[in-house]
Amino acid sequence: SWSTGNIIEEQVEKIREQVGSARVICALSGGVDSSVAAALVHKAVGDQLTCFFIDHGLLRQGEREQVENDYASTMGIKVVTIDESERFLTALSGLTDPEEKRKAIGREFIRSFEDAQRKLIEEASGEGGEIKFLVQGTLYPDVVESGGGEGAANIKSHHNVGGLPEDMTFELVEPLRTLFKDEVRAIGRELGVPEKIVARQPFPGPGLGIRIIGEVTFDRLETLRAADAIAREELTKAGLDEEIWQCPVVLLADVRSVGVQGDGRTYGHPIVLRPVSSEDAMTADWTRLPYDVLARISNRITNEVSEVNRVVLDVTSKPPGTIEWE
Ligand code: XMP
Repeated sequence: SWSTGNIIEEQVEKIREQVGSARVICALSGGVDSSVAAALVHKAVGDQLTCFFIDHGLLRQGEREQVENDYASTMGIKVVTIDESERFLTALSGLTDPEEKRKAIGREFIRSFEDAQRKLIEEASGEGGEIKFLVQGTLYPDVVESGGGEGAANIKSHHNVGGLPEDMTFELVEPLRTLFKDEVRAIGRELGVPEKIVARQPFPGPGLGIRIIGEVTFDRLETLRAADAIAREELTKAGLDEEIWQCPVVLLADVRSVGVQGDGRTYGHPIVLRPVSSEDAMTADWTRLPYDVLARISNRITNEVSEVNRVVLDVTSKPPGTIEWE
């Protein structure tokens, strides 16, 4: 049987063989797969690797810092952060339909990705280097799901590279292609990827953009970020991270209710807590969180986030409810 050490050695060999002395780029998402894939490639070819991280402004509190400091600095990996939050906010302006929001975010993501690649390629050729390789954190289940076989898992990357000039073709480096999630986590730990990233719960690509019910604005994002950070902090403190698959925190931005806070009447927004237990996200049940934990989260959110005067618990399983509200 394979130990994590063996897998790492084998993959490092393979990456070195594939890449030689060429330069490599990787897009980080902040999630487990791309972080571990980049760490493996970095172990193999060091500074031949440049990563980029697109901040779409729909991230949770501290996520960008986690990638930049906890991950990049401690591991010595070059990461270029590209702040595209204005671009995404502009694209989302006036949109309330969930599918339209998703489409706008997806479209801007591909454009940002292409711009970032172009810039890195220009810089690299200015330095006399050429980038030929693109790292992807494709896992074995991704390969199977997209039909298996060579090229099948490249749908995503084709999509991403699709808008580039014809002569910019990348060869993919996919060091996790034969692995399952738990193996990827074990390898990540062995490589020193911070626990916060390795153990991260699922988080949707469109980020907080699909957790604001209504139009996405900067102020609403700030409100949701603050509430979400409190919920996550209290759940972690209570030792519940393992038990919960994930816990979306949702802002009902178009709903208002009357409250009383401090000396006065308020007319604020509700926050929904959506803790779920699941094996694979296909089905889910709502997690029976301890009342005292729920009480702490509710007290803190309504005390610390002034726009929120009510916290409600979603007690719907999937089906019929999906995990996310949009
Ligand atoms: P639903 O809401 O469909 O979510 O029950 C199932 C799982 O998928 C995640 N999710 C997404 N992930 N892009 C993603 O990368 C998306 O648009 C998206 N929508 C939902 C969700 O967080 C849950 O883990």
